[in-house]
Amino acid sequence: MITIALAKGRLADKTLDLLEQLGIDCSEVRSESRKLIFTTPDGSIRFIMVKPSDVPAYVEYGTADIGIAGKDTLLEEGRPLYEMLDLQFGKCTLAVAGYPERKNTGITRSHIRVATKYPNVTRNFFSSRGETVEIIKLNGSVELGPLTGLSDLIVDIVESGRTLVENGLEVLEDVCPVSARLVVNQVSLKTRQNEIKAIIDGLRELVEGKN
Ligand code: PRP
Repeated sequence: MITIALAKGRLADKTLDLLEQLGIDCSEVRSESRKLIFTTPDGSIRFIMVKPSDVPAYVEYGTADIGIAGKDTLLEEGRPLYEMLDLQFGKCTLAVAGYPERKNTGITRSHIRVATKYPNVTRNFFSSRGETVEIIKLNGSVELGPLTGLSDLIVDIVESGRTLVENGLEVLEDVCPVSARLVVNQVSLKTRQNEIKAIIDGLRELVEGKN
């Protein structure tokens, strides 16, 4: 049996669409159940439903053989995993955003404050340019940072751009593109090569066929 860690939330539906196109029965996973572990009727695949940011940990420790998570999460977690496939959905951009041209907010500080759900990505981004910033880790509604004066900037994902526009903010700089990725546990790739390869090859064909 192969265990797949599925990120609950914005990537879940499209992930299940793809797996169903491979002939994997995901009907129970789609039910509104509060269960967190599902096994397909043929017993070949077990799904564990995890918070997106926890997918890398489950895969690193081998609790899941395969995981599907956004590139943003993989970069932030920085865990040793094999990233095998860009699934080409969940596309968005990690970006630095704030008031246009760092509008004078009346705040005077000796350094820039950045609010983000991605402290590691943010630290790496600014330090690669020799800039030191103060990072404030938030868990959501990060746009409130500049709006309330908590921070000067944010680093966050931008999908449609609507949240920024409706809050008078804009992208100041792109950090990197993001999409859903399939990751594999390093040991599982060797010990369960055939089963894992069959899933990856099938998904690759589907994804490439769509482009
Ligand atoms: C994400 C992200 C932005 C928004 C971007 O938040 O953190 O706030 O979506 O999407 P948009 O460009 O299409 O407006 P999410 O909905 O995951 O909620 P959160 O703020 O609670 O993390």
